[in-house]
Amino acid sequence: MVLQAKMIVYSSKSSKGTLFPVRSMLVFFIALFGFYVCYFSFTQITLENEEEEMNGAEERTNVLCKRPSEIPYEQMQYVHFPRPMSYDRGECECTPVRFFVIVSMQRSGSGWFETLLNSHPNVSSNGEIFSVRERREDIASILWTLDKLYDLDWHTSAAKNECTAAFGLKWMLNQGLMDYPDEIVDYLIKKGVMVIFLFRRNTLRRLVSVLANDHDKKTKQLNGTHKAHVHSQEERLRS
Ligand SMILES: *[C@@H]1O[C@H](CO)[C@@H](O)[C@H](O)[C@H]1NC(C)=O
Ligand SMILES: *[C@@H]1O[C@H](CO)[C@@H](O)[C@H](O)[C@H]1NC(C)=O
Repeated sequence: MVLQAKMIVYSSKSSKGTLFPVRSMLVFFIALFGFYVCYFSFTQITLENEEEEMNGAEERTNVLCKRPSEIPYEQMQYVHFPRPMSYDRGECECTPVRFFVIVSMQRSGSGWFETLLNSHPNVSSNGEIFSVRERREDIASILWTLDKLYDLDWHTSAAKNECTAAFGLKWMLNQGLMDYPDEIVDYLIKKGVMVIFLFRRNTLRRLVSVLANDHDKKTKQLNGTHKAHVHSQEERLRS
């Protein structure tokens, strides 16, 4: 009995002796792993927080601004509450804004259509923003320009007031739109932009009009009027 007990003590002692470094190493690694997991998840949490902040003011205001209940469900994605950097929307901060783009070709009546839209006090169509070459140099500058526009930070003569309820531009197919179609379509869907495609049904008339316009450009305008491009009532009467 005594011998047995001695042996047990001995064996346990010896096993303890050999196991001790293995066990403590195991404990050390588990602790290290635990620490690593904690650290990793902590950085992820802070990253997520930062991302949330970067997702922009619009997300936050969506929570604050209640979407009007009269807006049908299928139109929800087109309703926005942008927060411009350059001014405060003030009391209209929660006035929903629709984003739109008029996609067209020259001589399709888009100028007339845009004038019609801009005659509404709360609708701003900002013209052919992409007629300026630098703005459509590459997809990055196109998206930058669009972001600035739809943040309502783009100021043209068409820009109205802080209560603007629809904001957009006119975009000709040959102004960079056909160079990056996939990226631009992705952007418009993600941003919830309504696309108005305007075309002149009579292609022959459109082509004649393009020619007339071209002729006008070359011969220069007669006393400041542009014969093939109607701008005002007065000009229309004269031509
Ligand atoms: C323009 O917006 C203001 C503020 O939201 C509103 O009171 C007004 O009725 C709007 N005007 C028109 C013509 O819809
Ligand atoms: C251009 O303006 C001048 C002076 O106002 C006028 O005499 C002339 O008839 C005009 N020409 C045309 C083509 O309208």
